[in-house]
Amino acid sequence: MMTESTATSAGLKGVVAGRSSICLIDGEQGLLAYRGYDIHDLAKHSTFEEATYLLWEGDLPTRADLADFTTMLAEQRNVPESVLDLIVNSPIDAPPMATLRTAVSALGAADPLGEDMSSKANRAKAARLTAQIATLTAAIERCRHRLEPIAPDPALNHAANFLYMVRGERASTAASRAFDVALVMHADHGFNASTFASRVTAATLSDMHSAITSAIGTLKGPLHGGANQRVKEMLDEIGSPNYVVDYVDKTLAAKKRIMGFGHRVYRVEDPRGRHLKAHAEKLQDEGDPMMLETSARLIEVMHQRKGLSINVDFYSASLYTYLRLPPDLFPNLFAISRIAGWAAHILEQYADNQLIRPRSEYRGPGQRPYRALGER
Ligand code: CMC
Repeated sequence: MMTESTATSAGLKGVVAGRSSICLIDGEQGLLAYRGYDIHDLAKHSTFEEATYLLWEGDLPTRADLADFTTMLAEQRNVPESVLDLIVNSPIDAPPMATLRTAVSALGAADPLGEDMSSKANRAKAARLTAQIATLTAAIERCRHRLEPIAPDPALNHAANFLYMVRGERASTAASRAFDVALVMHADHGFNASTFASRVTAATLSDMHSAITSAIGTLKGPLHGGANQRVKEMLDEIGSPNYVVDYVDKTLAAKKRIMGFGHRVYRVEDPRGRHLKAHAEKLQDEGDPMMLETSARLIEVMHQRKGLSINVDFYSASLYTYLRLPPDLFPNLFAISRIAGWAAHILEQYADNQLIRPRSEYRGPGQRPYRALGER
């Protein structure tokens, strides 16, 4: 009989919690590959549609496969009127991730295949959700500014269509490509917290929408997908490269985190950062170029003080700012992309399922006699 390990690891640090064929990460070398394809090649050549196909199907599509997949995703962008009404009626100051979490759960209740656990139905739901999360996010952004949601344009790819649905006009080629690259960069990252949450939910054989709702709630936190918003708020607070040293020293002395730095897996720079930086630089005329100078100084000072490098959330904050998107929408932009990875992992979990149920190391009182209510 196999004996169970009783070793504990706070935060599951260093624990290998399952097998997966989707994403290779080497934190020592700074290597990231989707299904074996290096993230640097994908940053140069891929679109979000191609990366999503790769994550779900296991290899790059042919030209015909990609055309069919792109059309299929574009056809799924509309959301039911009842879910749009829910967004219209959400409190105007609700965090956009809270509204998205609720809207995705509502999509599940409205989906005719909601409880259908066949592989065909799960793939259909994965595609629908991937298309719809962008539509929901654009609608959330417009409705909270009391603007009418804009219908998707099937002639535009996923990235360009999202910017169009937010702005009400087509974005430039450079802006659309920058957002597309950001989507490719964020699409998957192994057993990160939100993906793991989605797999835990899927492993109970709960449905796809429930698993994605769990993932959105997990991504929302400031130590995960909520970090990009906090990076922008921090850069605003610092204001100029001249104030970086003061800010870092004061924050570290208070034992607080500098957002956008550090990673559970990478010991070197996150390989996605350089591509987000390059596209932010291309768009910097759209906003305050000082943000990039402050960012560069922050990297220097954090290296000196803590030996820590940036993570994916650091330059995505500048890139999204130059795309004229507001900071509290940044975590939703992460979700628009990571849905591709979540869905890939949920499908992988369903295909070879085992309940995910670890144990805890008990630190409470020993067994003791029950005292009746009148005796306490
Ligand atoms: N600022 C200051 N100190 C830090 C930071 C940071 N950003 N990150 C790690 N450290 C220090 C930490 O204080 C600790 O130092 P010591 O050993 O002296 O107490 C040491 O580094 C190890 O930290 P840890 O919290 O045990 O490491 P972890 O693997 O649990 O943390 C992390 C990973 C991402 C939660 C952490 O680096 C962090 O809080 N970063 C800031 C938030 C952030 O940018 N999150 C985005 C994560 S990456 C993409 C994503 O998932 O969205």
